[in-house]
Amino acid sequence: MNLQDMFDVRGKSVIVTGGGSGIGLAIVEILAEHGARVAILDISLDRAEGEAARLRALGQTVRAYRVDVSDGASVDAAIDSSARDFGGIDVLFANAGIDPGSTVLGPDGERSVDGALENYDADRWSRVIDISLNGVFHCVRASVRHMKPRRSGRIIITTSVSSVRAMPIGIAYSAAKAGAAHFMRNAALELARYNIRVNAIAPGPFVTNIGDGFARDPAVQTMMSGMIPLGRMGDVEEMKGLALFLASPASSFMTGAEVFNDGGLSLGPPID
Ligand SMILES: NC(=O)c1ccc[n+]([C@@H]2O[C@H](COP(=O)([O-])OP(=O)(O)OC[C@H]3O[C@@H](n4cnc5c(N)ncnc54)[C@H](O)[C@@H]3O)[C@@H](O)[C@H]2O)c1
Repeated sequence: MNLQDMFDVRGKSVIVTGGGSGIGLAIVEILAEHGARVAILDISLDRAEGEAARLRALGQTVRAYRVDVSDGASVDAAIDSSARDFGGIDVLFANAGIDPGSTVLGPDGERSVDGALENYDADRWSRVIDISLNGVFHCVRASVRHMKPRRSGRIIITTSVSSVRAMPIGIAYSAAKAGAAHFMRNAALELARYNIRVNAIAPGPFVTNIGDGFARDPAVQTMMSGMIPLGRMGDVEEMKGLALFLASPASSFMTGAEVFNDGGLSLGPPID
């Protein structure tokens, strides 16, 4: 297979949840640029529409749909609409997620009273699980209904390095991401005989709009960079190669894998 065929996504119908910003937007850009037809599903329709219009002006095929991934009916409606508009679904990126909220440690390294387990707010817990874990279930379930009859599909879930490493990042967030990672393995096993591959991208810290863009603060970047073996945070451009790889024939024998794109953070702290 030549290089072009190996990474060929031309004409594929791709859904990216949370595709209006950050990591999801980088995924939208690389796939649309390489000829896929991309549906941005996002809770912020304005942002999704704005990005879709920008990419359409470059000659790419991108549409925007509003969805709240925590709401199964909203997900079914948006995924069915995009499947109808694009004639099916070849690839789903279940990427939407929210910030961990209150963590055990603040950016200043001080212990946070709200983030302590005994004070952790139950509504915050439910909201994180509803979006970052239940949302993955809703999106995969709705997509599989379209993929299974065609005996073909690729599903890529955005987890996090916190799915395997306990970190002071918000206990609900870690639980949701660990759950999503193991959901991915079970789905991969169940769907293998239908030629539906299911994998996960596990990012380390990337500079995005998550948590109201807290990672754009230079002080936060310095603090986080010190925890990462490669000594810096990720740029969303560095997510594009892995996304294209997992969506394309280049990864045709991979299923059930959680691929870390994290500057080595999953290994542990840097060694001086
Ligand atoms: N940025 C990081 O450092 C980092 C690290 C590990 C994992 N992740 C994961 O990457 C994914 C993308 O995050 P990001 O950093 O690009 O954040 P981001 O905030 O820049 O983008 C997230 C997008 O998801 C959308 N969204 C939020 N709630 C939604 C909902 N209920 N339904 C539909 N869309 C919704 C937002 O509108 C936004 O466009 C998330 O799953 C996040 O947990 C991010």
